[in-house]
Amino acid sequence: MCDKSRDDALTLNQQEFSFICRYVHEHAGIVLSESKREMVYRRFSRIIRERRLSSFSDYCRLLQKNPEQEQNYFINAITTNLTSFFREQHHFDYLRQHELPALIRNGSHEKYMRIWSSACSTGEEPYSIAITLMQAMQGLLSQWDVKILATDIDSNVLAKAKQGIYAKDKLDDLSSEIKRQYFKQGTRENSGKVRVAQCLSKLITFKQLNLLHQWPMKGLFDVIFCRNVIIYFDKDTQQDLFARYYDYLKPGGLLILGHSENLGSFQSDFDNVGRTIFRKPVISAQAQVV
Ligand SMILES: C[S@@+](CC[C@H](N)C(=O)[O-])C[C@H]1O[C@@H](n2cnc3c(N)ncnc32)[C@H](O)[C@@H]1O
Repeated sequence: MCDKSRDDALTLNQQEFSFICRYVHEHAGIVLSESKREMVYRRFSRIIRERRLSSFSDYCRLLQKNPEQEQNYFINAITTNLTSFFREQHHFDYLRQHELPALIRNGSHEKYMRIWSSACSTGEEPYSIAITLMQAMQGLLSQWDVKILATDIDSNVLAKAKQGIYAKDKLDDLSSEIKRQYFKQGTRENSGKVRVAQCLSKLITFKQLNLLHQWPMKGLFDVIFCRNVIIYFDKDTQQDLFARYYDYLKPGGLLILGHSENLGSFQSDFDNVGRTIFRKPVISAQAQVV
């Protein structure tokens, strides 16, 4: 009762909202417009209540005073994590029908493949990539060194992704073949849920990574998924990220964006090979000499 009246009294003034917007932009790259005020209010009033603070100003002060402790909660509260298995199915069709057969043909010597899901949220995207790999490579997979790196800034979604346990209705749109082959029925406390099969999880390494920070990976990637994340960033951040994605792709590698995203001025550096699918050109030997 006491908590309720305090919540009713909670207001978010312009100064507090501006502070939160600046902080989110600086630390996660995410741009919050005025239309997000209600969302900010809802998500942070819960945290303020949990911290037993009495105002947004108190929370802003706590964030400044104690960034190590608070920043993670703050970022986790502000991210939008909407995702699903085989979201934008055409990307996975392209991978299975065109890209993976070509990589298998051209890489028969090295047998080495790296794929990065760079904003993996709760894991549905990297697990969909893993299923696509299993379908395209079948018996070959055991002869290859294939890994999927799956990263996100949000530690809560990463923990869920690593667990690989989902409500059954998340699989509603999947074929019964995929459900049977790649998901196990949960038991005891997980009854009514499903767990991804081990053959998928062993292909994936989950790591926390803020795309704005330095990327610690050493090698280059054959395919990078950067879907439905850059839409939250401003133009300069997007362009900076595209330059880095370019550098982290092998020549001929693929960059896959979300349905409402585009490369802006980087468009001419890539070949558009499908709906929001872009290929880093293979620079010919002749061009290298020049
Ligand atoms: C809408 S989800 C997209 C998930 C998946 N890629 C898809 O298309 O279904 C956006 C994800 O981007 C992550 N994200 C936001 N800002 C980020 C940043 N600066 N660095 C890394 N990940 C970030 C969020 O935590 C969230 O999980």
